[in-house]
Parts: sequence; C-alpha cells; structure tokens
Amino acid sequence: VVEKNVLLICGSVREGSVNAAVLRAASELMPSGVSSSLYSGLAELPMFNPDLDREPLAQTIIALRSAIKNASALLFSTPEYAGAMPGALKNLLEWTVGGTEISDKPVAWINPSSSPTGASKTYASLKTVLTYTGARVLNDACVSIPVPRALIMDGEITDGTVRDGIRRALMTLVSGS
Ligand SMILES: Cc1cc2nc3c(=O)[nH]c(=O)nc-3n(C[C@H](O)[C@H](O)[C@H](O)COP(=O)(O)O)c2cc1C
Repeated sequence: VVEKNVLLICGSVREGSVNAAVLRAASELMPSGVSSSLYSGLAELPMFNPDLDREPLAQTIIALRSAIKNASALLFSTPEYAGAMPGALKNLLEWTVGGTEISDKPVAWINPSSSPTGASKTYASLKTVLTYTGARVLNDACVSIPVPRALIMDGEITDGTVRDGIRRALMTLVSGS
C-alpha cells in the first residue's frame, strides 16, 4: 500500500500569513494514514524563463517537480493580490508546465478569505492555470472557509468550526485522489 501524501502549497510568503496558518492546520488535521508536507521553496524559485527550462535545471526546480511527482494530491491556499493570484504562485505554476509531474494530479484549495469579494478572482485564475497545466481540479474539495485574522493566535487556528471545515475538505480531497 502506497501511503497518500498531500503537498501543501501556499501562495503567500508573508510572515504571519493566514493562508500558511490554514495549511499548517491542514497538516495537523490530515486523515489518518495520510501524510503531508508544506512546500517551502516559493520565494527561491527563479523567474520562469523557457531558456532555463532545460538541462541542467536549477536545483530549486528539480526539488519542486519531484515534490509534485511524489505527492498523491496538491492542496493550495493563496491570497488574492490585485485581482488575481500572486505573481509568485503563478511563477511556480509556469514552472510546472514544462514538466509532466502535474498532469492528472488531483488538486484542490482552501480559500480562507474573509474579504467581501471572497478573493474569488484569485481562485478563478488559479483554476484556469491549474486546468491549463493538466492538473485534475477536484471541485468538491475546493472550499471557502473564511478565517478572519482574529482567529489566528500565535500562528495557530484553534477555532473548532474552521478546523472541522478543513477536516471535511481534506476527507473529500483524499477520497477523490
Ligand atoms: C499588494 C496587495 C494587493 C492585494 N489585493 C487584494 C485583492 O485584489 N483582493 C483581495 O481580496 N485582497 C487583496 N489583498 C489582501 C490580501 O489578500 C490579504 O491581506 C490576505 O490575507 C493576504 O494573505 P496572507 O495573510 O496569507 O499573506 C491585497 C494585499 C496586498 C498586500
């Protein structure tokens, strides 16, 4: 039996990120028998350049592609910046196009935005780009769970309703992957 392993990808590199707190909570709430790892290389990726997408690849790109390859599913959480996904996350996804690791990979997201617009444009653009890469978007596992900043204490989300929502989303993700 191959253990399931979810790769958690955060679109924010900000210290104190709400999205990172959501993914840390997700790593604590994985269904039993499912492991997870939080991708931590976002800020170190070079800007995508097709000229660099050939041997020898940068170590950061090799690491990104192998993390995706080894994952049974990907789970995203990202802020909206200026009406779309952050450039850093789009850059990561551009690097996946030249590899085949993301093809057919089950993917989903947890949207923790508590803004009036619900950061809907960032997730619309994320869906467009993930679909372009060939990833398999598990619509039922893509959820909005508003997490106001006040619910985060010392980087932790302890709110029971939010944690139950994350737990449910993870069950759906894992059962669909
Ligand atoms: C430059 C910038 C642009 C932003 N643009 C948007 C936006 O278009 N829509 C939105 O809902 N929030 C926007 N925000 C608010 C962030 O999405 C919000 O602060 C979010 O909590 C940041 O995520 P993080 O806590 O994980 O870093 C923007 C923030 C910054 C700094």
